[in-house]
Amino acid sequence: MKIIKTIPEMKAAVGEHKSAGRTIGLVPTMGFLHEGHFSLVRAARKKADVTVVSIFVNPAQFGPKEDLKTYPRDLNRDSVMLEKEGVDYVFHPEAGEMYPHGYKTYVEVRDLQEKLCGRSRPEHFRGVCTVVLKLFQIVGPDIAFFGQKDAQQAIILRKMAQDLNLDVQVEIMPIVREADGLAMSSRNTYLSPEERAAALVLAKSLEAAKRQIDHGERRAGVILGGMKAMIGEEPLARIDYVEAVDMEDLDPVKKIVKGTLIALAVFIGPTRLIDNMIVSLER
Ligand code: PAF
Repeated sequence: MKIIKTIPEMKAAVGEHKSAGRTIGLVPTMGFLHEGHFSLVRAARKKADVTVVSIFVNPAQFGPKEDLKTYPRDLNRDSVMLEKEGVDYVFHPEAGEMYPHGYKTYVEVRDLQEKLCGRSRPEHFRGVCTVVLKLFQIVGPDIAFFGQKDAQQAIILRKMAQDLNLDVQVEIMPIVREADGLAMSSRNTYLSPEERAAALVLAKSLEAAKRQIDHGERRAGVILGGMKAMIGEEPLARIDYVEAVDMEDLDPVKKIVKGTLIALAVFIGPTRLIDNMIVSLER
């Protein structure tokens, strides 16, 4: 496994594989990897000839009061794990490599970027789209892998790829959870033991919603009301949003149907966590 820090080197490495007719799979990450990331890596290894994992804590997607400085980083730990997973390249640029002095170009997916997480993180998806488009330009993947845990991000990136006619297939892989149901996230490392226990309320509220839907309830108001009441009982939790939306336009729905996205963001103490489920209506 090779760790590459510069854009020309990365382009040259994938260029050789492309000339030899090999397909490239890209897993964009911000590092501090967990099983959720490894599920993406394994999918990339299955579907592409060459696997590239990018590790870059992207300053453009953090708000001024967010956790850019404290976001967990450990390249050595990540590299050891990625080597075991059989990854071919790690792309780990410095911020100045991606955004040199005088950098001015940003990508927006209007409308979708303002909803759900976009309301409390107004610049976030502009930063995500910008860095992911740059990574696509640098690595030139045939397939790129993202997790459903960041459902809005995945939907926005798919739309970006479609609108900009990018020759990349955007694959969205299922949420990976801890044994007790907590969705895996690098930000879980911020939680104290009490907060870790309280954080289970996100997954529990989704499980309760699923039970209601399985029993035939289709009114979004009733389901979301139940989720909010459950979260409201957890003293360490503060709701940012709990919504049921259409997967295409992310607009709120009144009636739950197959494919409705039920998504939530909740502060547990100071840490903002997200989780979601896509309604299957299959028993
Ligand atoms: O999901 C993430 O870790 C980041 O938003 C991504 C896609 C790597 C872009 O920085």
